Amino acid sequence: MSGTDVHAGEPIAAFGSTFQNPILLASGTAGFGRELADAVDLDALGGLITKSVSPEPRVGHPTPRVAEFAGGMLNAIGLANPGVEAVARQELPWLAANLARARVLVSVVGATVDDYVTVVRRLSDQPVVVAFELNLSCPNTARGGEHFGANDDVLRELVGRCREASARPVVAKLAPTLSDIGRTARIAVEAGADGITVVNTMPGLLFEDAASAGPDRWPARLGAGNGGVSGPMLLPIGVLATQRVREATAVPVIGVGGIRSVGDVAQYVRAGATLVAIGTAGLADPRLPERLAERWGRG
Ligand SMILES: Cc1cc2nc3c(=O)[nH]c(=O)nc-3n(C[C@H](O)[C@H](O)[C@H](O)COP(=O)(O)O)c2cc1C
Repeated sequence: MSGTDVHAGEPIAAFGSTFQNPILLASGTAGFGRELADAVDLDALGGLITKSVSPEPRVGHPTPRVAEFAGGMLNAIGLANPGVEAVARQELPWLAANLARARVLVSVVGATVDDYVTVVRRLSDQPVVVAFELNLSCPNTARGGEHFGANDDVLRELVGRCREASARPVVAKLAPTLSDIGRTARIAVEAGADGITVVNTMPGLLFEDAASAGPDRWPARLGAGNGGVSGPMLLPIGVLATQRVREATAVPVIGVGGIRSVGDVAQYVRAGATLVAIGTAGLADPRLPERLAERWGRG
């Protein structure tokens, strides 16, 4: 099956909107845009995906929350966010007032299916929201911490109920660890998903060097212990996931993982992505996504 054709220099129609280029900022790495506005021309981008929003504010995990290694980065932020009310009253109005061309997708997270529905319902009347991205890679407290994307029935219920709760498109963001990501994507689409984002981070763990601790007691490098791996090592994983989802469904795919160059963007487009998102590379170099958008636009 095929998605939207993407050609360098041409705008892209997706999710009932038009993106001036395929470059988005990935969820959790750009806050709500405002944090970056002094350093980045957000309106030069295709758009941004907000930090994941939960019904209540979340303080997140203890520090350190990020650790670098040769293949990229390990993070355990713990989905820190100000909660849906603050997002509705402060963050989305700021984005509406300050963006003219870049599109906004709101990432949604929760501990229960009801949490996701609550956030989607609360934010659906804000015209600046082009689509919701459902972050399915987080623990479902009703099922002992299993991820929402890992159980077919929970996935169907979650996507179906969010779809019903809003006139806006919903996009399911899947983890790279799913045993058959094409099959899971198909289930999400059958339940009403209008798009699929692949991939989220891979689970990982790193300890401090042995030299900095006793031989039997190496502390973990992150305050939370384990975390999610992002950055260059995800590139081939995300490109393959994109191809598998493209083959299994006809909806637009947002390709994410390890993008650092226009060549990396082209890898995802070749695999069938309609849009791409940049996370870790933009943390180190906030103007990189803007440069890629500009280079992509030149064709
Ligand atoms: C510091 C950090 C925070 C993140 N927070 C979120 C988040 O709140 N929600 C989400 O769906 N993904 C989150 N992600 C995952 C990214 O959106 C992206 O899927 C992943 O990092 C792979 O892309 P990259 O290799 O370009 O970073 C986070 C990633 C990082 C590095």
